[in-house]
Amino acid sequence: KSLVVAIDGPSGSGKSSVSKEVARRLKLAYLDTGAMYRALTWLCLDSGTDLDDGAAVEAAAENLVLEISTSPLEDYVRVGGTDVTLAIREPAISAAVSAVATTLGARTELIRRQRELIKKHHHRMVVEGRDITTVVAPHAEVRMLLTASAEARLRRRGIQLGGSQNAEQLAAQVTLRDAKDSTVVNFTRAADGVVTLDSSELDFAQTVDAALGI
Ligand code: CDP
Repeated sequence: KSLVVAIDGPSGSGKSSVSKEVARRLKLAYLDTGAMYRALTWLCLDSGTDLDDGAAVEAAAENLVLEISTSPLEDYVRVGGTDVTLAIREPAISAAVSAVATTLGARTELIRRQRELIKKHHHRMVVEGRDITTVVAPHAEVRMLLTASAEARLRRRGIQLGGSQNAEQLAAQVTLRDAKDSTVVNFTRAADGVVTLDSSELDFAQTVDAALGI
């Protein structure tokens, strides 16, 4: 029986860790779509692709040779055989990923691959991202938006405001990325039929329980 669990949310909402744990508990496959945008960004930077050239970024998406874990028990991402699991989490990628993710042709290609992976897993998968409940899998059995206050999200990113100047800079970067991302996908408000789960006052275990409840 099909069970697609679509989870959207902004940076620092706890989306990845919660989605992974929900997949483990329900024995479902798991897909981190953000990692796909990050992998494409890695390829663009590695190949010197001009991120302002939409056609070039789209071509990179079409040529992307991607292997990504679809198990919540494993974490790997490979591009053209190179292990980029750690590299795609680097600040340089975080800073460039919105430019890639706002290229519509590239999105079309990655969305196509995401739907293919869901199908390959017989529609039994937790899929997390920014546009899963609305675009990638609007017919998912379960659709939720994981939110958290700006304060809680920064705290989870390990950013303590009022501390160092570095912290203020990190906070500004996260805010800027959310602002750029929301120009193409609205992940700040729940679409019709999408349940909002606010984790601001919940710890990890409580958030997982609340998600399983939904
Ligand atoms: O690090 P964080 O959890 O905030 O983000 P992520 O899930 O790793 O996603 C990285 C970037 O990929 C986002 O900032 C978006 O630009 C893009 N993304 C997207 O456009 N659509 C998705 N479904 C997932 C990610």
